[in-house]
Amino acid sequence: MAITVLGISGSPHRHGNTETLLDRFLEGVQDAGASVDKIVLKTLRYSPCRGCNACHNTGVCIVSDDAITLYERILSSDCVAVASPIYTMGITAELKGFIDRQQYLWARKFILKTLYFSDDHIRRHKGVFISTAGLGWENVFDGAFPVITALFNTTGFEYYDNVIANDMDRYGGIKNHPTALTDAYEKGKKVVGILMHLKTA
Ligand SMILES: Cc1cc2nc3c(=O)[nH]c(=O)nc-3n(C[C@H](O)[C@H](O)[C@H](O)COP(=O)(O)O)c2cc1C
Repeated sequence: MAITVLGISGSPHRHGNTETLLDRFLEGVQDAGASVDKIVLKTLRYSPCRGCNACHNTGVCIVSDDAITLYERILSSDCVAVASPIYTMGITAELKGFIDRQQYLWARKFILKTLYFSDDHIRRHKGVFISTAGLGWENVFDGAFPVITALFNTTGFEYYDNVIANDMDRYGGIKNHPTALTDAYEKGKKVVGILMHLKTA
């Protein structure tokens, strides 16, 4: 059975630094023989979480929109690569709004106890965070990591790796970065190799 990798771009800037880095990662994935899909959050229709807490009783979100469809797709993928540029020291509004909508899955896991991922399932499902930032600060991605961790934890993915490149302002864009695009491609290939091995193990 083919490995399925879902790329999710949370940048509102089409074909900018972050989506370009995601695309390169997905090229590596494809060249390694996996099946690839890419979703651009900006093109979807979904609203932020209303905080009504209805899902705490039902495990179902009262809002039926593209966010729910995308969560179903995430849950049926072997690997999810989530991309966002750093906006005001965190992820974009598009991605945070989407991640907050996972609350119904959180409720199933921790309140209703109807959703459970075994350690083996988590080991076989890899999450990758892809990001770019304007500043060269070493800690510029630190505000994003906990949110991405929460996404992967709730959806049953191991937080496998980061593909991150800072200092975009100085480089004048991702295409001028000396290593980021090659690293992204190699990491895409590598994660598929690992997942293929795990599937046959
Ligand atoms: C609204 C906004 C906020 C930003 N905030 C930050 C920030 O806090 N720290 C930083 O290093 N870069 C920041 N940047 C720069 C972007 O992270 C950087 O240019 C990134 O590579 C853009 O990726 P994109 O081409 O996918 O949009 C910001 C850019 C925008 C548009």
